[in-house]
Amino acid sequence: MSPTDISTVILWIYLHRFSLPTMSSAVIVALVTFATIYVILQVLLRATQSKSEPRLLSAAVPFLGPAVGIARHKVNYLVNLRKCYALPIQTLRMPFQRIYVVNASHLIQAVQNKINLPTFVPTLLDFGMLFSGLTKSSKATLVQAYGIHGNGFTKSVHKHLSSGSGLQAATRTAVDRMAASVPNNLVTQGSVGLYDALRHQLMLALTGAIYGPENPYDDPATQASWLEFVPGINHLLYSPFPSLTARKALQARARVIGAFQKYFETGGHTQAFTMIPEMFKVNMAHGLCAAEAAKLEMATSLAMLSSGAISAFWLMFHIVSNPDSLRQCRQEILNLVTKEAATATGVAKLVDLSDIKQKCPTLIAMWQETLRYHSTVINIKKVQNDTTLAEQYYLKKDGIVMIPGTAVHHDTDTWGSNASQFDQTRFLAPEGRKKLSNTTAFRPFGAGTTMCPGRHFSTNAILSLTVMILLQFDIEVVEGVWRMPTKKNADMWNAMPKPDWDIPVRITKRSDTSTEWKFVWGSGSIADTK
Ligand code: HEM
Ligand SMILES: *[C@@H]1O[C@H](CO)[C@@H](O)[C@H](O)[C@H]1NC(C)=O
Ligand SMILES: *[C@@H]1O[C@H](CO)[C@@H](O)[C@H](O)[C@H]1NC(C)=O
Ligand SMILES: *[C@@H]1O[C@H](CO)[C@@H](O)[C@H](O)[C@H]1NC(C)=O
Ligand SMILES: *[C@@H]1O[C@H](CO)[C@@H](O)[C@H](O)[C@H]1NC(C)=O
Repeated sequence: MSPTDISTVILWIYLHRFSLPTMSSAVIVALVTFATIYVILQVLLRATQSKSEPRLLSAAVPFLGPAVGIARHKVNYLVNLRKCYALPIQTLRMPFQRIYVVNASHLIQAVQNKINLPTFVPTLLDFGMLFSGLTKSSKATLVQAYGIHGNGFTKSVHKHLSSGSGLQAATRTAVDRMAASVPNNLVTQGSVGLYDALRHQLMLALTGAIYGPENPYDDPATQASWLEFVPGINHLLYSPFPSLTARKALQARARVIGAFQKYFETGGHTQAFTMIPEMFKVNMAHGLCAAEAAKLEMATSLAMLSSGAISAFWLMFHIVSNPDSLRQCRQEILNLVTKEAATATGVAKLVDLSDIKQKCPTLIAMWQETLRYHSTVINIKKVQNDTTLAEQYYLKKDGIVMIPGTAVHHDTDTWGSNASQFDQTRFLAPEGRKKLSNTTAFRPFGAGTTMCPGRHFSTNAILSLTVMILLQFDIEVVEGVWRMPTKKNADMWNAMPKPDWDIPVRITKRSDTSTEWKFVWGSGSIADTK
């Protein structure tokens, strides 16, 4: 309905008010009130929308329509916008917020252009602060210390984990942890959820490598509390009263924070990977107490634990649900066996996982396709000043620019007519591989200065885990057929979508049990996902 339609209705109701015996006056008052509010909102919307801004998405109910759409359909709402309107960029108006959804490649490039760095600033820090529960004064301290330039955590991760000897050391610890745990703890009586099993192994390995021998997540109670907290993040983001609607989740968070506070107070961090003690020291130097510094580990934990296990799940799903892929991956994995090595119990075959990138092209291509196909990453930037993008689109200060990765990854102009299909050979071909380094086309880890600094670490750990499992175990689906779970309930803040349900599987030792494997991370390296 347009504003004029509504005005006509109001006029009609007014003129007929005495001849409407069946309509109670309360209903008439409600209708008139509703209509008036509608007209006011429409006028407000149009009056505050500049002609040179990107085209406004018309919504049945101004402001609230898009808000409800996003709440209901999450990432798909933005992806469908692109499908329905096929505009290079468009404006969404939400209550007190304008959002610019970017679709066209040249505009993505413009937003990412170095020249525009001061105009489009990242908002990850706000997000981290929002859900870590820092006090007002700690937030003020951190904003003052870092401004828009990340925080102690992001700086330390970029510095220590993104490449070089730090990356090697952290990967090695994660691999050692999994090599010790996977053979003994993966097989359980009866069936187990595939996602659950992978998440547990990866969580112990990643957090163990980063937090060291006193890792708070080694305690199953802390692990459980973390998992209980995660669903509360949506409430912190969207609910007006998270303390009421997410009470249990916030109590769980308090328990995790408590475990980290104890960890710092007893010096657990002094045995951890370099970035943890460094970050703690920096936070304390800024005047934070241990209890507040412990809260910042919620951000570290979320970065580390939100996407990795989900990615590992989808990768494993695509491998084991396709007999050809499974056979090919297993064949390639045998290339990693270098020699025999003596162990405490006899002789084992040595598997050097650092050669995965060189020697397992199918596995690598499937990992990359898993990221492309499933990624739900949305890059978010805030417009710092009024600006004109690509000399054409006027963007207002404080607007939010969103680049939905799913739309980019499924663009047929870039990926061909089968963009929306999973193709395990896509990244085996040179044309496919060329696109991996183009962040306008392939961006599961983001792009630019905030590009995920944990990407190599998580890639190394996930591929290592996959190799260890494929070599030692058979995975059989309890239902008899592999059915790909839907992803309708995935969280909008996550870079990878969690499956709507877990897949019950039986994991058994492979029949060739005479071979003992020894897994190491040698001196090769998975320098990047290219
Ligand atoms: C498969 C697993 C992972 C995926 C898909 C993923 C994805 C992402 C994405 C999309 C971003 C935002 C980039 C942007 O806005 O431009 C990000 C940021 C970040 N990630 Fe990851 N990530 C993963 C694992 C990890 C791990 C294991 C760690 C740490 C140990 C980590 C640490 C970070 C940090 C610190 C940032 C913020 C960077 C900054 O603001 O400067 N990530 N990640
Ligand atoms: C926007 O997205 C649609 C759907 O993928 C596409 O057909 C269209 O070409 C895009 N528009 C531009 C200008 O990139
Ligand atoms: C933003 O605009 C204000 C006022 O117009 C100006 O003083 C400031 O320098 C601008 N900042 C940037 C980063 O361009
Ligand atoms: C990167 O990909 C985008 C989208 O397909 C394309 O428009 C652009 O030309 C590519 N850039 C390079 C350098 O290949
Ligand atoms: C996708 O299309 C490419 C060529 O456009 C083709 O080589 C490839 O086999 C197709 N993949 C699937 C799964 O159909």
